[in-house]
Amino acid sequence: MKILVTGGAGFIGSAVVRQAIARGHAVVNLDALTYAACLENVASVADNPAYAFEKADIRDPAALAAVFARHDPDAVMHLAAESHVDRSIDGPGAFIETNVIGTYNMLQAARAHWEHKGRPETFRFHHISTDEVFGSLPADPAVKFTEDTPYDPRSPYSASKASSDHLVRAWHETYGLPTVLTNCSNNYGPYHFPEKLIPVVILNALAGKPLPIYGNGANIRDWLYVEDHATALLTVLEKGEIGRSYNIGGENERSNLELVETLCAILDRKRPKPAGRYADQIAFVTDRPGHDARYAIDPSRIRAELGWRPSVTVEEGLEKTVDWYLANEAWWRPLLNRQGVGERLGTGTEKARA
Ligand SMILES: NC(=O)c1ccc[n+]([C@@H]2O[C@H](COP(=O)([O-])OP(=O)(O)OC[C@H]3O[C@@H](n4cnc5c(N)ncnc54)[C@H](O)[C@@H]3O)[C@@H](O)[C@H]2O)c1
Repeated sequence: MKILVTGGAGFIGSAVVRQAIARGHAVVNLDALTYAACLENVASVADNPAYAFEKADIRDPAALAAVFARHDPDAVMHLAAESHVDRSIDGPGAFIETNVIGTYNMLQAARAHWEHKGRPETFRFHHISTDEVFGSLPADPAVKFTEDTPYDPRSPYSASKASSDHLVRAWHETYGLPTVLTNCSNNYGPYHFPEKLIPVVILNALAGKPLPIYGNGANIRDWLYVEDHATALLTVLEKGEIGRSYNIGGENERSNLELVETLCAILDRKRPKPAGRYADQIAFVTDRPGHDARYAIDPSRIRAELGWRPSVTVEEGLEKTVDWYLANEAWWRPLLNRQGVGERLGTGTEKARA
């Protein structure tokens, strides 16, 4: 099928684009190329006749209508978003514009296109969201996010994603648009933009800089290798039930401190320091305001109904990730100069601004 992927020059979107092409789909990659984008992420498919790129902003309804008319897609996978929680604390306006209004624009453009085509049942609008919409879990390992967990977003980022999820459900219920929705845990892997925890730790370790851990490092996340997420997303697109949502997670809960210590141990083996261990560089810094304590996904539905499960453990995925960053300095080095990268963002001390 021909899939319109939004945000396909970002971290997860580019993994989806590469895998979709490998599975025989045609892909139109729609991306505004914000600070978080990198067209090198899709360089391996750029010359493929099944791939097309459209520089367009999801805040621009006319641009979206033109892309739908030009390419006549069979499905949409909507990943374009402002994605960094810390940036959402300093400047929430962009998150409302792109994640809320932009998703509304995408729904309207997709709906117009779908109605113009005679409302085919085979059409899909797949909205890619986060487990952060469910809020923060207690420490009890038996308690996890299911698809029925009530929404309780607590950051501007997660609130904007929660809003977009509600819009997607409403467009299905009200207009009959054939939607599917996925909520995923924290991703990591190749092409992860160097402002997020795992690449920051790897690159700061190599540069001899402090490895910043927010608060006491006890916050727990459920880590999923990005290629496994992309496989799950394409599985949901191809086999998911219309109107249904699926939680996607790696069942790999780690505290931030455990995660950083694992990365340090891998680096100690692969790129030993002349003296000492990388863990000596760990530095505890002021916590993020409203920092959610724990996220954990119960992926029973996607496993039972669609047969998806992750292919790697977090230890295997982190090994692959470290290998990738060690081998791909030409990718990450120029990104360190992008606006805000390497700075401490989201302390809540910024003046209120749009
Ligand atoms: N990273 C995670 O751990 C994670 C987990 C669960 C869900 N998600 C969701 O997955 C999606 C992708 O996340 P990511 O980590 O790859 O993000 P990312 O920040 O790496 O990439 C986002 C992409 O969207 C594009 N974009 C941003 N604003 C745009 C606009 N107005 N118009 C068009 N394109 C625009 C950017 O240029 C970039 O290429 C997001 O919707 C995010 O909420 C992310």
